[in-house]
Amino acid sequence: MISKRSFIKQFFKHRQMVGSIRPSSRFLGEKMLENIDFIRSKSLIELGPGCGVFTDMIIDRMAPDASLLVFELNDEFYDSLNTRINDPRVTIIHDSAEHLEKYIHDGKKIDAVVSSLPLMVFPETVRDNVVNVSHKVLKSAGIYMQFQYSLQSKKLLKAIFNDVSIKFTTKNFPPAFIYTCRKK
Ligand SMILES: C[S@@+](CC[C@H](N)C(=O)[O-])C[C@H]1O[C@@H](n2cnc3c(N)ncnc32)[C@H](O)[C@@H]1O
Repeated sequence: MISKRSFIKQFFKHRQMVGSIRPSSRFLGEKMLENIDFIRSKSLIELGPGCGVFTDMIIDRMAPDASLLVFELNDEFYDSLNTRINDPRVTIIHDSAEHLEKYIHDGKKIDAVVSSLPLMVFPETVRDNVVNVSHKVLKSAGIYMQFQYSLQSKKLLKAIFNDVSIKFTTKNFPPAFIYTCRKK
């Protein structure tokens, strides 16, 4: 896995894109994944994996017949994940989360989206596009998980998913808000 030091280096090189000075804790990962039914969920998406803390946790939990599409825009993170992860259920995609629909074929619908994207540092149109397209590709009753370091995303997420609940944890640096958004 890419080291913490390399992660920090990427942050100083691409602050806006990376959005955090260090990788998330496994505890935050547990919170991000605890509401996903991994037995029933056969199609999963992860947005902004970074060095893959959550990716590894998803892989450990996902069903043998499930698939996971992972979108990472940063060159170094993408290369590292693509070299390291060799699981036939997982496809690592070097493209922006905004374009995720392009990679979903035959009208397939998604059970769960796990997003670590730094939404509030994105331009407004990018932020809206990412959340809208995620909502669009989800099945009804599908789930969108997002963590952020503030409550600023609440308005946007509530406008798109009317069912949104929020938890907070200090067991991460920085402390984080975990948004659980369900499609009706
Ligand atoms: C806050 S970091 C989270 C990394 C990791 N999931 C974690 O929690 O430690 C945000 C990640 O989103 C990626 N990213 C930023 N904009 C993106 C975009 N438009 N599409 C896909 N990934 C993006 C960054 O390169 C970075 O890996």
